[in-house]
Amino acid sequence: MKRLANKRVLLGVTGSIAAYKAGEIIRRLREQNADVRVVMTQGATEFVTPLTFQALSGNPVHQHLLDNDAEAAMGHIELARWADVILVAPASADFISRLCLGRANDLLGALCLASNVPLALAPAMNQQMWKDPATQTNVQTLRSRGVLLFGPDSGEQACGDVGEGRLLAPHILIESLSEVFKTGSLSGRTVLVTAGPTQEAIDPVRFLSNHSSGKMGYAVATAAMEAGAEVILISGPVDNSLSVAHNIKTIHVTSAEQMMQQAQAFAQKADIFIAAAAVADYRPVAEHNEKIKKSAQTMMLQLQRNPDILATIKRENPWLYAVGFAAETEQLEQHARGKLQDKGVDMIAANWVGKAAAETNGTFGSDNNALKLFWQGGELELGVMSKTRLARELVGMIAAQFDNAIESGRLKPEQRNIENIVQFKSSSKDNK
Ligand SMILES: Cc1cc2nc3c(=O)[nH]c(=O)nc-3n(C[C@H](O)[C@H](O)[C@H](O)COP(=O)(O)O)c2cc1C
Repeated sequence: MKRLANKRVLLGVTGSIAAYKAGEIIRRLREQNADVRVVMTQGATEFVTPLTFQALSGNPVHQHLLDNDAEAAMGHIELARWADVILVAPASADFISRLCLGRANDLLGALCLASNVPLALAPAMNQQMWKDPATQTNVQTLRSRGVLLFGPDSGEQACGDVGEGRLLAPHILIESLSEVFKTGSLSGRTVLVTAGPTQEAIDPVRFLSNHSSGKMGYAVATAAMEAGAEVILISGPVDNSLSVAHNIKTIHVTSAEQMMQQAQAFAQKADIFIAAAAVADYRPVAEHNEKIKKSAQTMMLQLQRNPDILATIKRENPWLYAVGFAAETEQLEQHARGKLQDKGVDMIAANWVGKAAAETNGTFGSDNNALKLFWQGGELELGVMSKTRLARELVGMIAAQFDNAIESGRLKPEQRNIENIVQFKSSSKDNK
C-alpha cells in the first residue's frame, strides 16, 4: 500500500558523506507518489549539486533563508506550512546540535522551528562522532521533544571505520516514514464517507451540480484509513486525477438518490458516518428523455427536494457517530449549530465558501482549507492548512469524540441489527 501517496514530504539534506544517498530516497518517495521538496544546507551542496535533486524531485531545490526570489515564490513559512512531514536524511552531527539549540540561522533550521508537523532525522556520521556524549545528549534531548530518530545503522563506514553511524537504507527509511501516518485511533472501526458533488439530470446532456471537487472527502477517507479504519467511500462524480488507496472500497454514484441508496445499504455496517459530499438540495421533478430544444426566451425548471442523506442516515442508524459538513457564505457558527440540532447529528465541520473563503484561503477545488468543528458541548478551530493535514486532524477529533460518546453511553452500538448488515460485494468494487 502506498501510504505516502499525495503526502508532502520536505526532505532536508545536510553535509554528510551520505548526502548522495538522498537521491535514492527521493526516487523511492516519488515511487510512492509523494510530493517531494528538497532543502539543502550549505554543507550538503559541497557534496552534491542541487541540480541532481531538482531533477529527481521535479521541483526547485531550496537553499537560502535570505533569498528574495525564493521568498517571493514559496517563502520559508509557506514551505513549513506546506509540509505534511519533514525528513532530514542524512542528518549531520552539526545539524543535530543546531536543531537541539533551536538555531534558525539557515533555511532548514528555520523550517524545522517554524513547522509543527512530524520531524524525523536519519543521522549519518562517523561512528566516533555518533558515540560522542555531545551527540548522544543532543539526540536524547530531541527524542524527548518528540523528534523521531530513524537509525543510524551500523556496519562499515566511508572512512573505513566499523560501527554505528551509517545512514539507514533508503527503503527502510521510507517504510519508517510511512509509519508516521499510521495512528491506529480508528482500528477495528468501519467508517462510511461520502465525497464530491452530485449531478441531477435535466435531460441526457445537462445536469444541475455544484463546484465541490471531492478533495476534502477523499482526504478524509484516506485519513480514516491511516487511522486504521475499514473505509467505504461513496463518491459523486469527481476528477479522474483524484484517487484513494485500493483498500478503500469505493462506490461511484451520480445523483443524490443513488448516493442515498448506497449510504443506506452500508450504514448498518459502519460505526462512523462522515458526510463530506456536497449533495444537491434539489433535482428536476422530471428528467427529459430527449435533449431540451431551445425555443422560448425563458423556461421554467421545476425542482423538488432531494433526500437529506445525513439526517436520514443518522435517524435510521442512531448508534452511528454522524458528522456533517457545512459550507457557509455567512453566519458560519449560527448555521453550523443549527444543523447540529436540526439533523440530530454528532458533529458539524463548518467552513467558509464563496467570497468569505478568501480569508481562509480555501475554496472549492483548493488544496487548502480551514474548519471549525462543533459538537454538543464543544468546538474547535482548525486553522488554514492542506486538506490532507486538515483531514487527519479532523479524523483525530472524530475518533476522540466517538470514544467519548461510546464511553458515556450516548451512542449504543448494541442497537445495531447485525442481520441487516450488507456485505460489500467484490463485484461492485470500483476503485479508481
Ligand atoms: C569529506 C567530509 C565528510 C563528512 N561527512 C560527514 C558525515 O558523514 N556526517 C557528519 O555529521 N558530518 C560530516 N562531515 C562534517 C560536516 O560536513 C560539517 O560538520 C558541516 O558543518 C555540516 O554542515 P551542515 O550540517 O550545515 O550540512 C564531513 C566533512 C567532510 C569534509
